[in-house]
Formats: sequence, C-alpha cells, structure tokens
Amino acid sequence: MTKIRIAVQKSGRLNEDSLKILQDCGISIDNGKDQLKATSMNFPLEVFYLRNGDIPQYLRDGVVDIAIIGENVLIEKGQDISIVEKLNFSKCKVSLAIPKNVKYSSVKDFEGKKIATSYPNTVIEYLKSKGVTADLHIINGSVEIAPNIGLADGICDIVSSGSTLFKNNLKEVEVILKSEAVLAVSPLISEERKEILKKMQFRIQSVLQARQ
Ligand code: PRP
Ligand code: MG
Repeated sequence: MTKIRIAVQKSGRLNEDSLKILQDCGISIDNGKDQLKATSMNFPLEVFYLRNGDIPQYLRDGVVDIAIIGENVLIEKGQDISIVEKLNFSKCKVSLAIPKNVKYSSVKDFEGKKIATSYPNTVIEYLKSKGVTADLHIINGSVEIAPNIGLADGICDIVSSGSTLFKNNLKEVEVILKSEAVLAVSPLISEERKEILKKMQFRIQSVLQARQ
C-alpha cells in the first residue's frame, strides 16, 4: 500500500509538538526514539526524523512528500517549497540583536558591521531591502555568544522566549520575520499521495479548530 512520507525534526523544539499534532489527528506512530524512520499502524504514513536544515532539500528532491518544519527554515532555504497549512505552534521571530550597552538608532547602524548568523539569506535580503551592507559571519549554533567573544558586532538568530538574548547581554533591535511551524509539500508529490495528504489536512484542520 502507498504511504505518504513525512519529515519531522529529529530533535529540538519542533519534534515534540510535531508528533503531538499527528497523535491528535489520530495517527499513531510506533516510536523507538533512536530510529530514524517509523511507520504508522493506523494511517498510510511513514515518518522520517531529519535535521531541520536538511528538510527543504529532501522536499525538493521528493525523498519525502511532506514535512512539518519552521517557516523560518523555508524562508532561509526553501522559498520554492509550498506551504499548505500553518500549524500554530513553535512560534518564534528571526531578529537582529546587539550588545545591550551599545546605542542603537536604526538598521543603518549595521552598515559595515559584522553579523554572526545561521540565516545568511534572510539577513542579506532584509539588509538589502533597507539599503544596508554588512559583513556576515555564518555559524551553525550558539550564535549569541559571538559578540561576547569579539567575533561580531551583532547577531541574527531565532528569538522565542528571549532568554538566550538576555543571558548573553544582547537586546533585540529589529524583527526580520515571524515564524511558526507549517506543513510543507514536495513539488514532486504523486497524485496518489496527494489524496492521502488531503485526508491528513482534513484531520489537521479539525485539530487546529478544536485547539482554539
Ligand atoms: C535556539 C536559537 C536561539 C534560541 C532562542 O537555539 O538558535 O539561540 O533557541 O530561544 P529563546 O529565545 O527561548 O532563548 P538552541 O537552543 O536551539 O541551540 P543552537 O542555537 O545551538 O542550535
Ligand atoms: Mg541558539
């Protein structure tokens, strides 16, 4: 029997809520935590646990049919991938921040400055729209430490509770975008799997409505 293949974040903030929404849709997944692949017993679905940043490429290549992923990741590296549902969880911002004690008047202050980030495309596009040119330093994690160790003047990263900024003596100065978890679809999904997706979307919409 044909199954729809869904990518879910392997570990991290989206993982738990992604599995929860599938569960709320009445889709049970046999979950050995360390397994990278799981199959549902009561719905034609296979789950692949993947790294967030890899998911846009898997969708593009049609290795998976759908994914639960942060909109921010698609904006950074999956602008060609379509979103079919917003899922109303894992809400966050992608923001620019600078050391608390540095004076700030406008985004022009970033001109010629060094910015550490894991979201280079997002930052460049934003600064370009404001006519600002900065020097990007791309790092994959613990971005907020960069100004404290003299690696950058500011950072651009995800802000959720704001506690990472606070702990690192940084202040948010520009919100580039707001994001939440979304259901995204591969451009290569087959007609047969589109039918399964329709059934899933119907359940997801009911769950989201009930949650309000
Ligand atoms: C994420 C993100 C921010 C932080 C934001 O990092 O990169 O640093 O969470 O959340 P907050 O506003 O609630 O503090 P994460 O802890 O996932 O680690 P990483 O950056 O090393 O991947
Ligand atoms: Mg971080």
